[in-house]
Amino acid sequence: MSEPIVLGIESTCDETAAAIVQGRTLLSNVVASSMEEHARYGGVIPEIASRAHAEAFVPCVSKALADANMTLADVDAIAVSAGPGLAGCLAVGVSGAKALAWAANKPIYGINHVIGHIAVTQLQFGAFPPDTLALIVSGGHTSLLHVEDMPRKIDVVGTTLDDAAGECFDKVARLLGFPYPGGPHIDHHAQNGDPHAIKVPMGLTQGKAGAAHPYDFSFSGVKTAVARWVEGEQAAGHEIPVDDVCASLADSVATVLARKAMKGCEQYDSKTLIVGGGFSANSQLRTKLLEYGEKCGVEVRIPRIKLCTDNGAMVAMLGVNLVEAGVAPSAPDFPIDSAMPLTKVSM
Ligand code: KG4
Ligand code: ZN
Repeated sequence: MSEPIVLGIESTCDETAAAIVQGRTLLSNVVASSMEEHARYGGVIPEIASRAHAEAFVPCVSKALADANMTLADVDAIAVSAGPGLAGCLAVGVSGAKALAWAANKPIYGINHVIGHIAVTQLQFGAFPPDTLALIVSGGHTSLLHVEDMPRKIDVVGTTLDDAAGECFDKVARLLGFPYPGGPHIDHHAQNGDPHAIKVPMGLTQGKAGAAHPYDFSFSGVKTAVARWVEGEQAAGHEIPVDDVCASLADSVATVLARKAMKGCEQYDSKTLIVGGGFSANSQLRTKLLEYGEKCGVEVRIPRIKLCTDNGAMVAMLGVNLVEAGVAPSAPDFPIDSAMPLTKVSM
C-alpha cells in the first residue's frame, strides 16, 4: 500500500468532526461544533454534547467523503477517537465508526485523541524526525512527550500536576466574566496589555520544587494568584485592568511552557519541538515558542490554527501512521477509554 487513505472521526468533546487523509495530504476536513449550545452554561454539558454528536455524525462523515470525492469503499481504514474524553460523546463516535467499519468491511483503529493533536503537524511539516520532543497543550492536558518512534514508542517526560494551561485560562476567563471557552478571549485582551503589569508566579520553575520537577507543570497556583489579585483590586474599589491581567497571565504561562520545552529538547538532544492541542492556538505561546526555538536552535512545529483545535484530520493522520507502521487494527469490540493514558496510542 503506497499512501494509505484513512477516514478520521472525532467526538471527544464539543466538536463532531470527520476528515480524509491520504499519506500526508488532507483531502477533506469537516467540523461541526456544539460550542454555542454550551456557552450559556459556562462549560460543556456532556448530555447536550452527546446529542449534538448523534445529530452531526452522519452529515459530517457524508460531507467528508463527498468533499474528497470518495465513498466508504475507497478508504483503507477508519480511525476514531477512543479517548480520552467525555464517555457519552466518545460512545457516539465510536459506535458510529464501528457500524461504518462493519458495513464496509474496513479495519478500524480506536486512537488516542491527544496523540492525534501532535500527529496532525505532519500535514503541514511532514513526517516526525525520530527521537523528538512534543509539547501537548489542550484543554485537559499539558504534557511534554518523548516521541522516540511515532506511533510505536511514546513516553511522558513531564506533565501537569494540577490544572492544564487551557483549564487555567478558562477559569481565569470565567472570573473576568468572559463566556466559555475563555482561552481565546484572554488571548485577544492580552494583545493590548502589559505582560509585566502584574506579578504572576511561574509554577515549578524555582527552588526545590523546580529541581524536583524540571519538566512538570503546575498552573493552579497561577490561577489562584491572579484570582486573589483581581479580588483584592475589586475589594479596594479599583477598576480591573483586564488587558494587563490577561497579558501578565499569558506571559507567565507561555514563558514556563517555552522554557521547560526547550530544556527538554536540550536534555533529549532534540532539534525539533512538535506542538499540538487546542491551547497551541494561543498567540502569546506561539510567539514565545518561536522566539525561544530560534534562540536555542530548535525548529518549532506549531500547526496552523485550524489544525490546533479539535478536528478529524488529527485522527485520520494518526490512523495513517498506524497503518503505515503495520500496527494491528483494534478489535471490532474495542471499548472507549475516557481516561486513555498518553502512552497508549491505539486500543
Ligand atoms: O484541544 P482542545 O480543543 O480540547 C481538548 O481536547 O481539551 O483545547 C481546548 C482548550 C480550551 O481550554 C480553550 O480555551 C483553549 O484550548 N484555547 C485557547 C485558545 N484557543 C483555544 N487558549 C488560549 N488562547 C487561544 N487562542
Ligand atoms: Zn483536543
